[in-house]
Order: sequence, then structure tokens, then C-alpha cells
Amino acid sequence: MAKVVTFGIQKGGVGKTMTSGITAFLLAKENYKVLGVDMDSQGNFTQFLSGYDDLAVFENETVLEAIKDGDARPYIKVVDENLHLLPADDYLATIAQFLFREYDGNPSLALRKAIDPIRDFYDFIIIDTPPALSEQTINALGASTHVVILFETSKFCYSAVPRFWDTIAAAKENINNELEIAGILRTLADAKRSDSKAMIELIGDSYPDHVFKTIIHRRAKTGRLPIYGLWNNPEAKSAFKYHSSFIKELKENVGAKTNV
Ligand SMILES: Nc1ncnc2c1ncn2[C@@H]1O[C@H](COP(=O)(O)OP(=O)(O)O)[C@@H](O)[C@H]1O
Ligand SMILES: [Mg+2]
Repeated sequence: MAKVVTFGIQKGGVGKTMTSGITAFLLAKENYKVLGVDMDSQGNFTQFLSGYDDLAVFENETVLEAIKDGDARPYIKVVDENLHLLPADDYLATIAQFLFREYDGNPSLALRKAIDPIRDFYDFIIIDTPPALSEQTINALGASTHVVILFETSKFCYSAVPRFWDTIAAAKENINNELEIAGILRTLADAKRSDSKAMIELIGDSYPDHVFKTIIHRRAKTGRLPIYGLWNNPEAKSAFKYHSSFIKELKENVGAKTNV
């Protein structure tokens, strides 16, 4: 059974898409079978992993249609041998309307139902979410075994964490009792700024048992990844400097099987 890991927090620009995308890519490079699921209608995760800028190539073949059909299988794109993708485009923004007007079943578990037939096929399913506690995020939590809470080292993000935590707790209680918090990941840290350092310490003191030891620092090479891409990018290896150690911790925290 796949470990299904949602990357979330109801704030934008904190590194959810980059971190989840790099994680999916690197796990696939380690020979795990990985499915990336884009639950953000912005489609940046889709662009990042597929290499296609123009989301029109995925029109009518996205996670939205997978949810409407109750089966993801016809919509999965093969990006690489071990890396598959359930893409998103702008139309995903209409999902709440569909879920509440037409969906026959629990609206919070619609994604879970769609990926259920393929959960045995993958080692990891990595879900990127939008910067809101919307139906997309609730569906991601409903489908997941684990959540990584993204914490960009800023004050606004500090106040978002307990609210996201409560949302996860409510999801666990009401829709998905297998859901666990894999950890809080500190991202976009800036070693030159004292306020960033203070936030790193503050969240560590507030959640000592839940922060990942790895801190993802802001790096120009990482920031440029969306421009030059994940494949055939001479900078890529160095852009992943912090992510490799994060992935090691993540695998321990979710109890992933050792790959051979
Ligand atoms: N470690 C990093 N170093 C430098 N830039 C980064 C890093 N992680 C993300 N970025 C950049 O920060 C911006 C926001 O990241 P993104 O992953 O899109 O956030 P979110 O999905 O939370 O909105 C993007 O422009 C991205 O390229
Ligand atoms: Mg994003």
C-alpha cells in the first residue's frame, strides 16, 4: 500500500509545490514507484513535474475528471518510468460546485475513492495542495496516510500552523482515522536574516517533537528549478542539497519500506 503524503498549509509562496515536486522526483529516482497528484488549480506542480508550461495539453484529462469518474486510472500521465502524474488545470477550481451539487458519496472522500484502485501499485503518492483550507485540501487529507506541514520561516506562517493542525485533527476524527502528521518542515529559511533564524527556533520550541531536523534553505539554484526544469538541468543536483536529507527523514517518519 502506498504511503500517501499531502504537503500543505493554507498559505501561498511557502514552498509546497517545489518541495512536493522535488520529493516526488527524487523518490522516483530512488526507484520507488511514485504518483504525483496536483490538487491546486494553479497547476504549478503539473508544470514542474511534466515539463509542460501549457496546461491545455491536459484539458479534460485531469484529477477533476478522475474525481468525477471515481477512478484515477484513465487520467494518469507517465512522466518517467517510476514517476506518474495526475495533473490539474484551472477547472479544478469548480470542484466544490460538483462535489456539493452532484457527487454521490462523501464529498470529502472523493479523491480517496478515485485513487483507491491504484494505491497498491505505488510506493508513494505525493499530493500538492492549494494555499487554502478548501475542498481540494480536505480531499487531500481524506486520501492521505500522512501530512507534511510546510512552515515558511515567517510570522504569518507561524500563525497558520495551529489552524492547519486543527484542520488535520478534524479530518482525522471525521473522515480519515489513518491520517498522521509526518512533521513540520521549515522552508525558505534565510541564514542571513535574524528574523528567519528566530522563527526557526520558535517553531522548534513550540513543536519539538514534530519538526523535521532538516531545514530547507533559500537557494538561488532551487528557485531557478522551475525555469530550467528537473531533467537535464546541470544545476539540479546542487539545487536538491537540503531535499535529499529531508526525504531520508520523511521515509523514516512514514515507515516506508527500504527500497531494493
Ligand atoms: N528552497 C528554495 N530556494 C529558493 N526559492 C524557492 C525555494 N523553494 C521554493 N522557492 C521559490 O519560492 C516560490 C514559492 O514556492 P512554491 O513552491 O511555488 O510555493 P507554494 O506552492 O507554497 O505557493 C517559487 O517561486 C519557488 O520557485
Ligand atoms: Mg503551490
